[in-house]
Amino acid sequence: MKTIGILTSGGDSPGMNAAVRAVTRAAINRGIRVMGIRRGYSGLISGDIFEMDVRSVSDIIHRGGTVLYTARSEEFKTEEGMQKAIQTCKEFGIEGVVVIGGDGSFRGASDLSARGIPCVGLPGTIDNDVGCSDYTIGFDTAINTVIAMVDRLRDTAQSHDRCSVVEVMGRRAGYIALEAGIAVGASAILVPEVPYDIENDVLKRMEKISKTGKKHFIIIVAEGLEITDKLTEIIAERTQMNTRSTVLGHVQRGGSPTGYDRVMASRMGYHAVELLSQGIGNRVVAFKDSKIVDFDVQQALSMHKEFPVELYKMAYEISI
Ligand code: F6P
Repeated sequence: MKTIGILTSGGDSPGMNAAVRAVTRAAINRGIRVMGIRRGYSGLISGDIFEMDVRSVSDIIHRGGTVLYTARSEEFKTEEGMQKAIQTCKEFGIEGVVVIGGDGSFRGASDLSARGIPCVGLPGTIDNDVGCSDYTIGFDTAINTVIAMVDRLRDTAQSHDRCSVVEVMGRRAGYIALEAGIAVGASAILVPEVPYDIENDVLKRMEKISKTGKKHFIIIVAEGLEITDKLTEIIAERTQMNTRSTVLGHVQRGGSPTGYDRVMASRMGYHAVELLSQGIGNRVVAFKDSKIVDFDVQQALSMHKEFPVELYKMAYEISI
C-alpha cells in the first residue's frame, strides 16, 4: 500500500490526536504516504484532504479534540455518497483508510472495505460503548474530567449540606457513570444497564446513610436514562434536602488526554498501520484481556460487552 488516508468520525474524544500522530508517523516510517481527511466521511466525499508529513502531527499529542475535525455524515450512508467517497479515494490515490470513531463509524468502514478500500477502525469515543473492546480512546480522560468536576461539586454540596445530582454522558451506556461514580464515592449510581428502583436504591438508601451522620450526597446519573430533572425533584420533595442538579455536558469531551489515553491511542494507531501496511483491512483494533488485538468489522459490530455488574454492586456496598 503506497498511500493511506486517516479520518476521525462521530463525537471527538481526547486521545484522537495521539492516534492520528501514531498512524501518520508509523506509516511514513514504512514509506507510506498519509492523507489527512477533514471532518470524517464528509471530507472523504467532498475531497477535503491534505498530505501529511511527520511534522504535521507535531505538538498534538497533548491536545484534546481532533486536529482533523470530525462530523457525522448522513450522505455517506447513501450509495451515492459512498460512490463519491470511492471516487475521491481514486483521485487522491488513497488505497486504505484508518477510521477513528465509534460503532457508527465502523459501519462506514465496513461498507468502504466491501467496495475495495480496506479500512481499519480504532475505537475512539468517551462512552466506552464499543462491544469488541474493553477500552475506547478518550474514556480515561472523560472519567478524570468527571472526577475533577464532581470533586468541586462535593465541596459546595458539603458546605451547604446539599444533595448534588450529576448527569454524566455516555449516550445509552453507563460506563462513565459507573467508573466515575466509584471514583467519587457517589451514594447512588443509576445506569441504563442495571434495573433500579428510585424508592429503594436512592431514597431509602439516602435515609439509611443519613442516620449514620452523612449530610451531603452525590448521586450520579447516566444521561441515557433521561431522569435527571425528575429525580432531582423527587429527592428534594421526599428528603426535604436542598437538592441541585448539574449536567456536565460537553466539558467531558474536551481537555488534554491522560497519559493512559495517549499511550493506548498510540498503541492502537501503530497496530492499525501494521495491518494496513500488510494490505489487511476490514478490521477494528481493540483492547481485549489487556492486549491490543483486531477483529473483523462485522464480528466487532456483533460483539456485546458485559456491563461489570460486580463493580456496580461493589460501589453500592462501599459508598455508605
Ligand atoms: O458519543 C459521545 C457523546 O458525547 C455521548 O456521550 C453523547 O450522548 C453524545 O456524544 C453527544 O453528542 P453531540 O456532541 O452531538 O451533542
